[in-house]
Amino acid sequence: MEEYIPQLGRMVYTPPNGPPPGVRPNQEIYQHMGRDNIFKMCEDFYTLLGQSAISHMFPDTPEGLKAASQRQAMFMSGALGGPPLYAQIIGPPRMRARHLPFVIDNASRLEWLRCFKKVLEIPEIYDFPADDVAGFIYFLEGFSAWMVNKETPSETPHKDQDASDSADGASQT
Ligand code: HEM
Repeated sequence: MEEYIPQLGRMVYTPPNGPPPGVRPNQEIYQHMGRDNIFKMCEDFYTLLGQSAISHMFPDTPEGLKAASQRQAMFMSGALGGPPLYAQIIGPPRMRARHLPFVIDNASRLEWLRCFKKVLEIPEIYDFPADDVAGFIYFLEGFSAWMVNKETPSETPHKDQDASDSADGASQT
C-alpha cells in the first residue's frame, strides 16, 4: 500500500505483512560476544555501508559513520539479548518511523543485507557463535523488510511491449 505523507513530501509504501511476528535472534548471543565485539561488528558493517551502492544514505565522514554504527550497536545489544541500550540512551526504537526520512526500496535493502552478511563471513572475529549466524541473518531479513518504504515497480511487461507482442502475433484482424 502506498500513501502520500505530506510531512515527507512523497508517497510512502507500507509492506502489507506488517512487522515480522516475534522473530528474534538467539538471546544468548550477547553473552557470548560481549559489548565491545558488538560495537566492533557494527563499526565494520558501517565501514562497508560507507563503500556500498547505498553509501549516499549514510554519513560521509569516518566520525559520522562511527557515530551511526554506535546507534546500530546500541540497538543490536538489546536485539541479541543484552541491555537495551538504544531504548535507554536514545529512546523508543520505533525503527520503521526512524527510517522514513530515507527512501528505502528492496534493492537498497538487499545491498544493506549484503554488507551485514559480508561482515559475518568470519564470525569468529567478533566471537559471534557460528551456529547462530543463519538465525541472525533470518532476523535481519525479516526486520529489514519492514524498513522498506518505497515500492519496487512490478515486473509486469511494459505497455509498449504488450503492443508489439500482439502486433507480432498477427492474430488480430
Ligand atoms: C534489521 C534491519 C535494520 C535495523 C535493525 C536498523 C537499525 C538502525 C538503527 C538503530 C539506526 C540508528 C537510528 C538513529 O537513532 O538515528 C539506523 C539508522 C539508519 N538506517 Fe537502519 N536498520 C535496519 C535496516 C536498514 C536498511 C534496510 C536501510 C537501508 C537500505 C537502513 C538505513 C539506515 C540509514 C540511512 C540510517 C541513518 C544513518 C545514521 O544513523 O545517520 N537501515 N538503522
